[in-house]
This record gives sequence, structure tokens and C-alpha cells, in this order.
Amino acid sequence: MKKVILTGDRPTGKLHLGHYVGSLKKRVELQNSGLYDMYVMIADEQALADNARNPQKIRDSLLEVALDYLAVGIDPSKTTIFIQSQIPALYELTFHYSGFVHLGRLQRIPTLKQEIKERGFEKELPISWLTYPISQCADITAFGAHLVPVGQDQAPVVEIDREIVRAFNRQYGDILVEPEAVVPDGFAKRLPGLYGIDDKMSKSLDNAIYLSDSPEEVAAKVMKMYTDADHIRVEDAGKVEGNVVFIYLDVFAETAEQKTKVAELKEQYQKGGLGDVAVKKYLIEVLESVLAPIRQRRAEYEQDLDKVRAILRDGSAKADAVANQTLQKVREAIGLNYLEQ
Ligand code: TRP
Repeated sequence: MKKVILTGDRPTGKLHLGHYVGSLKKRVELQNSGLYDMYVMIADEQALADNARNPQKIRDSLLEVALDYLAVGIDPSKTTIFIQSQIPALYELTFHYSGFVHLGRLQRIPTLKQEIKERGFEKELPISWLTYPISQCADITAFGAHLVPVGQDQAPVVEIDREIVRAFNRQYGDILVEPEAVVPDGFAKRLPGLYGIDDKMSKSLDNAIYLSDSPEEVAAKVMKMYTDADHIRVEDAGKVEGNVVFIYLDVFAETAEQKTKVAELKEQYQKGGLGDVAVKKYLIEVLESVLAPIRQRRAEYEQDLDKVRAILRDGSAKADAVANQTLQKVREAIGLNYLEQ
């Protein structure tokens, strides 16, 4: 049996380059290896967990995220793409798992603490937000996922999911598969935003390049990126470390030719005599080599949204059947089959 991979994204907006290098790119590689049974989920309920009073934002983002998936090369003939809310078994599994984790443990997850602060939830924390890691455990275990490719910040959430699985299995036997997070290396695991390495790329900080940005938007954003604050005149020697333009070049240059060119630019920049604009122009070229094919595939699917909806409908039907099997096993393990003869 092939190993199972499951991963997902909250539909709160279009996906950006941080999502791409942090997770989407890896998913496409894993998908194309043919070694795995892969599920990709649009986590609309998890997005509603902190947007209960703004559901329109989630509805508006749902197809955008699906388009981003298809655009980067997630292929519905190889990967099951589905919508979380269309799989009722996930709600029930969440409830069954809730007894296997306690409040203090959820409150101690570093990612959750950070997210609570970012959302201003310190005083009024929605229960749905506090408990999203439990629902995420349902997402993962419903499909028997072994591997969960996520950005670095989600690794502690997968860790708690592992604990829930172990606690459940200790009680009921070997029912659930214990998942493992797959996290990228280097700056890819937390791509900085356009204006410095302290902030990660994020929609809320307005420092992102979106997969759906036009070439003009990409170029304008790159031109606004921060470089080395001390590199004032072209002749000055510049710093490459901590310079987001060079960090992006390192992350996105893929071909041998691009890598050689980046090495040359770095050397010249550090010596002095290379202006920021020249480096940025090259970054635009490198980013376009990544983004142009994505943009083109997105445009094709945008022409046929009925087809996109059909992909999601088929994927959700398939996911529903698989999740129901797990749910039946769980109900039986707990012993809820009182009325069966
Ligand atoms: N919490 C994830 C994020 O914010 C999204 C997500 C929901 C997810 N369910 C999942 C990721 C299951 C991996 C597996 O990015």
C-alpha cells in the first residue's frame, strides 16, 4: 500500500510565494513521484474558526485557493482535492478526539499562542480557534495520512496531533495512523516578506507576492523590496546576508545557469559596483520563470470555473467515502455500536 499524504490550507485569501516554497512546491514533487496517495484539502471550517463573523471572506477565497492549487500543478487526476466542510465525518472525529487532549496543552502550542496574539484573541478566544488542532487531527487521521507537508509554523500543531493519536491508540488499540510533519529547509520554511527578514510573508502584513499577481505587479513589488540599508551608492560594498532580494534569489533560482548568475551577482555586490536595481531586475526574471507557467495555467482554469467546481465535487465525494471508513472504525473502537446485532 502506498503511503498517504494529506495537507491543506485555510482559504482566507489567494496563496502567495511563501505558500509556494513552504509547501505547494513540495506537494507537486511528492505528487509527481507517484509514490504516494495524496489528498489536498481546502480547510474552510478551520478558516471559519477565526472568521465566524466574516464567512463571506472564506466563500470568496475558496475557488481562489482551488485555482492556485491547479495553477501550481496539483493535478486532480493524481491528487484528491477536496473541501473540509463537505466531509461530515471530520466533525464527528473532532468530537471523539477532544477527550484526548487538555486545555493547558492546547494553550501551550507556540504556533497557537502566536496566532492568538496576531488575531487579538487574548481576551476573547473563540473555542473554535483554540480547538483547531483537534479538528486538524481529524483531517489527518481520517485519511490515514503518514506524511503532512506543512510550513515550519505548523510543525508544533502536527506534534499535538501525534500526541492525540498515541493517546487514542493507547485507549483503543492500533486504530489511527501516527502522522509526521514534512518541513522544508532553509528560508523556504519561513519565507520573509518583501520588507525584511523579521516578518514572514503574509497577507495580513501586506508584504506578499501572490501566485496570481500580474508581471507588472510582481515587478513593482520587487522594486519596492528592502535590500541592505547601508548600500547607498552603487560603488559601495553591499551585504548579502539578511538582504531579502538575495534570500529570494537563493530560494527561487533553480537552474544551474540561474545559480551561477546568482553567485556572480553576490560576489560583485559584496565587492561594490553593483546597484540594487540590477539585482532586482534579475530577481524579477527568476520569479517570472517560476510564476509565468503558474499564471498561464491559472488563466486556463479561470475560463472554466464549472470544471473547477466539478473537480472539487468529485474530490470531496471520494474523500467523504474514505473518511467515513475511518469514522466507522473509530465508532466501533469506542463501542458506539450498541444497537447492532
Ligand atoms: N493549519 C494549516 C495552516 O494553517 C491548514 C490545515 C488544516 C492543515 N488542516 C490541515 C494542514 C491538515 C495540514 C493538514 O496552514
